Amino acid sequence: MHHGTEDVPLSAEAVQAVLRTRELGQPLYLLDETSSTNTVAITLAQEGAGHGTTVVAERQTAGRGRLGRMWFSPARVNLHCSVVWRHIPTPSRLPSWLSWAPLASAVAAAHAIQRVDTLPVGLKWPNDLLVGHRKLGGILCESGGSAHAGSGGGMFLIIGIGVNVNVPSEQFPEDLRSLATSLLAETGRRQDRARLLGALLEELERWHTTLFTDGHRDVALEYRTLCRTLGQRVRIALAGQGDVEGLAEAVDEDGALVVRPQTPGTSPSDGGSIRIRAGDIVHLRGPGSPSHT
Ligand code: BTN
Repeated sequence: MHHGTEDVPLSAEAVQAVLRTRELGQPLYLLDETSSTNTVAITLAQEGAGHGTTVVAERQTAGRGRLGRMWFSPARVNLHCSVVWRHIPTPSRLPSWLSWAPLASAVAAAHAIQRVDTLPVGLKWPNDLLVGHRKLGGILCESGGSAHAGSGGGMFLIIGIGVNVNVPSEQFPEDLRSLATSLLAETGRRQDRARLLGALLEELERWHTTLFTDGHRDVALEYRTLCRTLGQRVRIALAGQGDVEGLAEAVDEDGALVVRPQTPGTSPSDGGSIRIRAGDIVHLRGPGSPSHT
């Protein structure tokens, strides 16, 4: 029996029934509880797990976000999924591929969500999934290598995705309530998580295959269309160098955010723009008013 706000558990049968991928989602590990699906996927990959291996958990006890943060992962309401990706480009294309892989994952996740419900999903650079000003999901990509011989050896990328699906907003911890949202909170409808997972794996396969075979051009085009950060005033925390505010002008060919520094109350600086390759930004609506993302 399933009470309250918990969903029916994800079952391998329900996922297989909707899965239309060539490789992703096979094999599929469905865990009731684990520390972090990314951590499990890294271990499996180091032990030789093949391309497409996917780990899903109903609940994470140590879900990991970007920049060392925690990821809120309550039981049976959301999606926590990590995929082992092993199609690795040649060394000359590797840096560009590594820069675009998280952004391609965000494009894929936005498409998957919009296939199961009609709501406007946008992206906050680099790879937050937004509805309005609130965060619906996030991506954590981690690369590694294993000395394992054979097809399971060599480099791998773990694509970790968390989407808040059927969690009611009052179940978010208080400090997240104004920052985070879920599909249920936005639409009032519960979603079939097996269907969303199927769509997510299909879209990941599609966008990552495009990135791997054709390079970043099509991914970049779609990323820039979905990216809400472009044209926004933003604040960036620079490691050890304080904050910078400015106008987000572009996402360049390396996937970096190009920002023209601007101090509140002054005219735009005539100095050059700065390129942000990693880190955290805040969308500002007016001088000094963060938009809670
Ligand atoms: C972020 O926005 O900070 C990234 C959040 C990534 C969360 C997902 S949930 C599945 C996978 N396993 C983890 O521990 N993290 C990612």
